[in-house]
Amino acid sequence: MRIYYKTSSEIEKMRDANLVVCEVLDVLEERCRPGVSTGELNELADRTLRKLNATSAFLGYGHPPYPAVLCTSINEVVVHGIPRKDEILKDGDIVGIDFGAFRHGFCGDSARTILIGQVSDAARKLVEATRHALELAIQRCVPGNRLQDIGWAVQSFVEPLGYSVVRKFVGHGIGRAMHEDPQVQNYGEPNKGIRLKPGLVLAIEPMINAGGPDVEVLDDGWTAVTRDRQLSAHFEHSVAITENGPVVLSRR
Ligand code: MF3
Ligand code: CO
Repeated sequence: MRIYYKTSSEIEKMRDANLVVCEVLDVLEERCRPGVSTGELNELADRTLRKLNATSAFLGYGHPPYPAVLCTSINEVVVHGIPRKDEILKDGDIVGIDFGAFRHGFCGDSARTILIGQVSDAARKLVEATRHALELAIQRCVPGNRLQDIGWAVQSFVEPLGYSVVRKFVGHGIGRAMHEDPQVQNYGEPNKGIRLKPGLVLAIEPMINAGGPDVEVLDDGWTAVTRDRQLSAHFEHSVAITENGPVVLSRR
């Protein structure tokens, strides 16, 4: 494991990359409504990215090469849904939008789950719990705490609500590469794992299921769905650990 601790000037650059991500997500969120295709969201993300002089962190990533700049994960899709022109958002959907960008050699990465029109109480509660779980996780990003305190904050909040934590995918360190050490689980035990130190930057991304924790990847090699096909929600922020506590780089 090789962890790259960032200087404050590097963190400033990461802030820039993440503000691009935040801006793109704001534009997409504004456009999200019944009748809009996920393919159209991907094009809007691509146009906005160019306008902001940044490049995609997702396009061409991995094996098989990821074919879009955006991930759009509807309802039972956990993460890594591939946008399509013939996939139309409809009233009552929840859609995770996940976006990553490079600027000045550094990566920003963030995701939100958006409610489309009038959604069920069950869906809204899952999304709000996942959003809150990420906030609790961020609050643990203080020097002296340990890595698993982050996952424990997520798990100990969502499991009593009857939800489950996805284990197959995790958050990650982030910097000059989108994925750096360490892996950031959304479950764990308090007071375990490496000590959090100033300069560590983490992409924390709870994926929370209404049903069981198991996921499967579809034949496209990317789309991850819940095995029981129940709903899943996902939020992600890139967070710098500093002497003054957590700084959420992907939020204005
Ligand atoms: N936020 C996700 C991650 O950290 C998105 C990756 S999508 C990919 O892994 F296409 F780039 F893989
Ligand atoms: Co990420």
